[in-house]
Amino acid sequence: MSVHISAKPGEIAKVVLLPGDPLRAKYVADNFLQDVKLVSSTRNIYYFTGTYKGKEVTVGASGMGCPSIGIYSYELYTEYAVDCIMRIGTCGAYSTELKLFDLINVDVAASESTFAKYAWGIEGSAIPHQGNAFDIIKQTAVEKGLTIKNENIHSSDIFYRAAPGTPEVAKEHHCNAVEMEAFSLFANAKHLGKNAATLLTVSDIIPTHEFISADQREKALLPMMELALESAIKIV
Ligand code: HPA
Repeated sequence: MSVHISAKPGEIAKVVLLPGDPLRAKYVADNFLQDVKLVSSTRNIYYFTGTYKGKEVTVGASGMGCPSIGIYSYELYTEYAVDCIMRIGTCGAYSTELKLFDLINVDVAASESTFAKYAWGIEGSAIPHQGNAFDIIKQTAVEKGLTIKNENIHSSDIFYRAAPGTPEVAKEHHCNAVEMEAFSLFANAKHLGKNAATLLTVSDIIPTHEFISADQREKALLPMMELALESAIKIV
């Protein structure tokens, strides 16, 4: 047990898929994993451990934002000896260069967040993916015939803001899309010497207000879920 996860020692796999939403974690467990066990439901943040093609994988939720994923990823790495965390999530595109349903493998996360500086003394506003998970995802996408874009993304603390347009930190680091978690995941992994990747599906195009509707979402996210699982089993 850790402060926020009630799984027993040994109940979490070495590789963990981390969507933001607990119900998305349940969806992955119900639709892709065998021999599934619910190993934690503290705060209704579900963690399920099962097997995918015979290999043990855990899928659980990170919650929303850098502080929340900062807590869960730290406890997974340090209390459950997890080697690799793959965040699977959605992002908004800052320009029409990206299209709805595009798949993104995050190269670098840039943020105005003070998380990395105050947690670990990591200076600067950009942190790259950590370890080999990014390369494994890239290779697995090629094998599966999936198109995936390597992008820098903006991990924002803000969903609603007064000023329109692309924030400065996103321009500075050439980020075409925004989400809210990769920066602190990469910061924790960097500090602890662990493996971390972030796979995203573009769910909205900010300048045109196009978005994937709620009922399209589950189906829209299937390629990302399958790519994450196919990549995860190469790591364990
Ligand atoms: N902003 C932040 N995070 C997001 C967005 C967005 O527009 N879309 C999906 N995740």
